[in-house]
Amino acid sequence: MNQLPTSIIIFGASGDLTQRKLVPSLFNSFIKGRMPKNFRIVGYGNTAFTDEQFRVHLSGGIHQFAAFKYSDEEWNTFAPNLAYQQGRYTDLADFKRLSEFVSKWENGSGNRLYYMATPPGIFPNIIDLLGLTGQLQENGGWRRVVIEKPFGTDLASARSLNLQIHKALNENQIYRIDHYLGKETVQNILVTRFANTIFEPLWNRNYIDHVEVTVSEQVGVEHRAGYYDSVGVVRDMFQNHLLQLVSLVAMEPPASFDANALRNEKVKVLNSIQPLRGEVVASNTVLGQYQGYLDEEGVKAYSTTPTYAALRLQIDNWRWQGVPFYLRSGKRLAEKTSQIIIEFKEPPHLLFPNARAGMTPNMLVLYLQPDEGIHWRFEAKVPDTAADMRSVDMEFHYADSFGKTSIPESYERLLLDALAGDASLFTRADEVETAWGLIDPILESWDAQKRPPSIYEPGSWGPAAADEMIILDGRTWSRWQGH
Ligand code: BG6
Repeated sequence: MNQLPTSIIIFGASGDLTQRKLVPSLFNSFIKGRMPKNFRIVGYGNTAFTDEQFRVHLSGGIHQFAAFKYSDEEWNTFAPNLAYQQGRYTDLADFKRLSEFVSKWENGSGNRLYYMATPPGIFPNIIDLLGLTGQLQENGGWRRVVIEKPFGTDLASARSLNLQIHKALNENQIYRIDHYLGKETVQNILVTRFANTIFEPLWNRNYIDHVEVTVSEQVGVEHRAGYYDSVGVVRDMFQNHLLQLVSLVAMEPPASFDANALRNEKVKVLNSIQPLRGEVVASNTVLGQYQGYLDEEGVKAYSTTPTYAALRLQIDNWRWQGVPFYLRSGKRLAEKTSQIIIEFKEPPHLLFPNARAGMTPNMLVLYLQPDEGIHWRFEAKVPDTAADMRSVDMEFHYADSFGKTSIPESYERLLLDALAGDASLFTRADEVETAWGLIDPILESWDAQKRPPSIYEPGSWGPAAADEMIILDGRTWSRWQGH
């Protein structure tokens, strides 16, 4: 990192994300000594805060949400790096004031990271105004922009957003966030696959029967119905997080650990997924809505927005031909868990007389959260029998090996990477568009059929139709029960 002063300018600074995630993450990096030597965090928003009020507001958030230990002294050393500028998102004069404010502190050249933590409708306007006031010009220091999800609501809107922001920025200045990529365990998918020799030879259609990705939540829409009811689970979770997980599991080894090499491989996977459109949508997708969703505050009367979905995807390439990928995610389900299960094929010939029909197949579980780890299920001989077998597990828990607090908040890694100019864990324009290209026809087909989502009980594992979809393939959903 060069030694110029670095400004992190957060738009939407009085909001939830800044208080809960962004500033606690930056503070934690500061405590670990990872922040640039000379930095300042400038909050920008409509709310009238003085610098001091902004600091008090943030310290309240840290107190409430920080998952790490800190001393008053650490906070008092960090806090003077926080400043606030009140302003509107549509006003050129306010942006000029911001520009002067930042330039004055830089006193020459400086690096700038702009973070869009505003509602998505506003950020193209912010980028325009930053451009018009010269704040995106790289004269000496770099300029980067971090963009929060959702990136568009369909392919057309994502494309037009890309076009719009590319007028002011080059692709290598744009950091589109998918916070799943900031999760340690998600990054560990690459390490598991490509830093070990034992998995890669088996990682294909010859040995893998199918792959399951489950991302379930216990919470409902909470206070976000205004946003959620207009998007639903497929746009909220599948277009980004679940498809990202699929691409990491299914990608070919990249040529190097470089942002573009990595993202090229991920885009190749997305391009190889058989698009579900028209008639095949009904037999490969299930949409559900939890009982009681319509009574949530802010949900439209008779809303048919899905809060649960299950998809069966096929990847058309040499490695994965014929191996189904089952994806499911929903709100108000039995448990909060994110896990990827790689289920292997049965042995081609069973030698043992007592082998049970339909023995539990070998399974590799990438347990993303909450009990982060990796588990390996295989058959073992029951002692003191001729050749009876039982499934046993080998388990790796991050908490046991690295300590209970070893896993940082996703935003910590992502913000540091953006400051360091490493875009590996951010999504590229073509990646986002390709993902929308897969999601759009599914939703269009459901709209055209006018079929409502199946209602499911809160606290269940979703609608029965999702079980039926996979049972038709002679399989059932698996789930690793963490501790
Ligand atoms: C967000 C979605 O991107 O991810 C939320 O908008 C969802 O609806 C959240 O609750 C889940 O993230 P995590 O990290 O809790 O699995």
